[in-house]
Amino acid sequence: MPAAIKIEGLNKIFRVGFWGRRFEAVKDLDFEVGAGELFGFLGPNGAGKTTTIKMIMGLLYPTRGQAWILGKNSRDVAIRARVGYLPESPYFYDHLKGAEFLDFYGKLFAIPAPKRRKKIGELLELVGITRAADLPLRKYSKGMLQRIGLAQALINDPELIVLDEPMTGLDPVGRREIRDIILKLKQEGKTVFFSTHILPDVEMICDRIAILNQGRLVNIGPLGSLLSPRVKYYEISFSGLAGEKLKDLSAWVSNILQDGALTRARVEKEDDKDRIISWILKEKGRVDSVLSHRESLEEYFLGQVDINNADKRG
Ligand SMILES: Nc1ncnc2c1ncn2[C@@H]1O[C@H](COP(=O)(O)OP(=O)(O)OP(=O)(O)O)[C@@H](O)[C@H]1O
Ligand SMILES: [Mg+2]
Repeated sequence: MPAAIKIEGLNKIFRVGFWGRRFEAVKDLDFEVGAGELFGFLGPNGAGKTTTIKMIMGLLYPTRGQAWILGKNSRDVAIRARVGYLPESPYFYDHLKGAEFLDFYGKLFAIPAPKRRKKIGELLELVGITRAADLPLRKYSKGMLQRIGLAQALINDPELIVLDEPMTGLDPVGRREIRDIILKLKQEGKTVFFSTHILPDVEMICDRIAILNQGRLVNIGPLGSLLSPRVKYYEISFSGLAGEKLKDLSAWVSNILQDGALTRARVEKEDDKDRIISWILKEKGRVDSVLSHRESLEEYFLGQVDINNADKRG
């Protein structure tokens, strides 16, 4: 099976301002998204996510490099029948009612009327706006527009779904609902590629993520492998040791906290953690728990972006 998305040496230079100054928005990106993967495309504002997505969708020509979707060149118009796309700022014909809007797209994909009607009902239900089916889009809230945009992206029952910031404009409940829909799509065997800067949403659902900063790929991989080696600190909770004994420990551990009968010691190095545990056992104390605090995706992401920016400054 071909990769759902494959990009090679993708580069985009815009000409900006009166003098046509060169601005490199996307810098020689390479990556692949496998069939059936749920892939998160992360990056701060202006990182180049939308520009990359537009090139993947064949809506913007790369300056260099190439993109393939479902094994076909992304400029191949026929392939779009098998892809669903939610743009960053979708343009809505706002005099249309919700159901009419979906019908319009259904007709574009030449879906026969009875099947179209059934599909529209299902999609309105899926994105939770059945009640607004007969409301003109101009009366939709931002979150409702985002939902109908997602329904639009699914009208042709696509194999590959590309969503540019699908959670934007939604409240926490709405975000969770969209997240659940995305998970459901994956369970149906579809490939979902979506961009976001709402990190916790990615953290919970994605198989793999790519981090983009200033047009460059900073990192790519399964969340686990990106984060797991990065234990920030260990916290050892123990009891049964007090007074003088604890003083011994505080000679070489600076971060000790007393919490009732429980003592907590926090250290950064694995060696120190092992030393403390041995010491507690030797002194006949009881180890209640040992927790390793890992970096959250948010911290990791900020760290990566900082490193990258520092490299550029340096
Ligand atoms: N048509 C254009 N002409 C000139 N510069 C552009 C054009 N489109 C995008 N850019 C610039 O390219 C950079 C990347 O923009 P892009 O919209 O791809 O970022 P993004 O990662 O999607 O950001 P956001 O999270 O804000 O949506 C930005 O600095 C932007 O100003
Ligand atoms: Mg964008």
